[in-house]
Amino acid sequence: MAGRPGGASPQLSARATAQNRLDPLFPRKWSFEYASCAYGPVYMALLSSMAIVAIFLCAYSASTLRAYQFAEDRAYHRGADVIHTLAQSRLSHFPTISAFPPDPPPASMYPSPPPPPTPQPPPRPVPPVLRKAPPKPPSSSPLPPPPDPGRWSTTNNITSALDGHGVVAYGKFVYLVAGTIGISQLFRYDTETGEMQELAPLLAYRSHFAVALVNASIYVTGGSDYFGQPLFWRAVNSVMVYDISSNVWSWTSSLNIKRTGSCSAVLDGKVYIIGGYDDADNFLSSVEQLDPATGVWRLLPDSSNMASAREHARAVAVGSYIYVAGGHGEDYPVTLDIVERFDPSSGTWSTMAPMTTARSDFGIATVPGGRILAAGGACANAECIVDGRFSTWSEVEEYSVVGNTWVRRAPLPQPLYRFGMAWVAGGVYAFGGYNPANALGEYTASKRVYVYSNTQYGRDGQPPATAAAPDAR
Ligand SMILES: *[C@@H]1O[C@H](CO)[C@@H](O)[C@H](O)[C@H]1NC(C)=O
Ligand SMILES: *[C@@H]1O[C@H](CO)[C@@H](O)[C@H](O)[C@H]1NC(C)=O
Repeated sequence: MAGRPGGASPQLSARATAQNRLDPLFPRKWSFEYASCAYGPVYMALLSSMAIVAIFLCAYSASTLRAYQFAEDRAYHRGADVIHTLAQSRLSHFPTISAFPPDPPPASMYPSPPPPPTPQPPPRPVPPVLRKAPPKPPSSSPLPPPPDPGRWSTTNNITSALDGHGVVAYGKFVYLVAGTIGISQLFRYDTETGEMQELAPLLAYRSHFAVALVNASIYVTGGSDYFGQPLFWRAVNSVMVYDISSNVWSWTSSLNIKRTGSCSAVLDGKVYIIGGYDDADNFLSSVEQLDPATGVWRLLPDSSNMASAREHARAVAVGSYIYVAGGHGEDYPVTLDIVERFDPSSGTWSTMAPMTTARSDFGIATVPGGRILAAGGACANAECIVDGRFSTWSEVEEYSVVGNTWVRRAPLPQPLYRFGMAWVAGGVYAFGGYNPANALGEYTASKRVYVYSNTQYGRDGQPPATAAAPDAR
């Protein structure tokens, strides 16, 4: 076969054959001429496979980074696996349930002036909530339809994207206590200029804490001091307090129970911390009360426990009561619409009219006229799971303590949860928070600030004297 034709000597032919056998692809006598053609593609193939390996490494580290970045949310919603499993099973049973029925057009819902004394439009149907609901007392007769659903507008952004932060208003300023992963900053937002200033940082990292303002001091109570591996929250009982006049933080006396995901309100100069879950993941219904004058937290007796243990609920004080709404109930990740009212004089809770929407991690603010505005939030009930993810609301409702009724208000410009709200003369400010997940399942924190106004509040309306701070997550 080899070397026969061409007149080469048998010896040379044998050598060439040997060489060819050594390197059958590139016979020596071709090597110089063809190496560049033959080895070139081989080198290119090698380089291509190295590039493919590099791309895989790159993609792997990017996904690891993303996993880290969004681990906080997954950890917090530690029922995520449960949710996903639920979703897969429930979706197959209820494939057509939609968590976002369209908001009714405001015009038809709230006929514009002058509103005739028509009966209240039927409330938007709310999907049944799978939980053991305590019996609800009959609510008083509904108020006439509200004259103004109000409106949301945008104003100057905050300088850092925040979520899970605590928000309290003091004069024209709103203090933002950052609870975002790894952030322990305090900011002050000027509602007149839209400028944000960074103040003294917290003494330690906290998330899922409760925040309350009393006597020009901001209490950051309980929460979690830990994130990382394994991704679980660790409840703490420590409490730090910020003195607005001196811009100084200090530690103050600790809670009786380690609590995270609690909510807080201030009534008659006392700070209350309510519910949450402890370091053994027990859901709490208990209440502790701080008298700033003595600096002692008093655990109220069991008779002062809420009917529904819950975490990531919201609390505000109006008049001589504290109202607690929503959150996650004991059979996590069930989300509650239940509202309870605490009377400190008797130390007991009453169940009030439920919200029209089950929500946790929502914005709450007291507004003039004995009203409470509840906005946005998240729902992880089975009927709220869409594509394996919990729903995030844009809808807004307002409670009247006089009528014990909830009515729908103009929705937020976008769905949001883990944001903070506060009333500052003239409007309710909503800061930052999480948007719904994008296609990759990522939740991004926002820098946006929205302001809600409503003619029924008046331009210079003041919140009730006992207005309490909204809570942090
Ligand atoms: C309010 O704070 C000031 C200064 O921090 C303190 O002197 C005063 O006793 C506090 N008042 C009450 C009622 O706690
Ligand atoms: C405000 O923040 C949002 C979301 O974080 C961003 O999309 C928008 O561009 C910001 N607007 C301004 C004026 O910076």
